[in-house]
Amino acid sequence: MSETRIPNAAGTRFVQVATLDGLRPGEFRRIAVEGHALVLARDGAAVYAFQSTCPHEMADLAQGRIDDGCLICPRHLATFRLSDGAVSTGWKNVAPLKLYPVRIDGNEITVDAAAVARNPPAGKRQVWDLSR
Ligand code: FES
Repeated sequence: MSETRIPNAAGTRFVQVATLDGLRPGEFRRIAVEGHALVLARDGAAVYAFQSTCPHEMADLAQGRIDDGCLICPRHLATFRLSDGAVSTGWKNVAPLKLYPVRIDGNEITVDAAAVARNPPAGKRQVWDLSR
């Protein structure tokens, strides 16, 4: 998908990653922004963009699910609050989930590529080849 630049505040660079009518409620989709793998997830009317691997042991978060505003990791079931990335209690040594700003402009879903570049997602897994 080509990047569409949308006018915005200084220090941000929102690029189109999907369309709202193309992302079903409950859907998780792998995307690439600034050469980094992220996951885009829709929960009702809300859309989130976050790192693709779990901060605990790098499980694939595209296989997770969302419940009550929290992302649940598919491997060991740690939960991450989607408002700020905080991990659930009992996971003291696990870093918060990296979340990235999302805007919905009409039918376009955009993610702040400048934020991804400033604070790239953790984990060694890099971009999938999305052309296949
Ligand atoms: S890998 Fe996600 S909780 Fe362990």
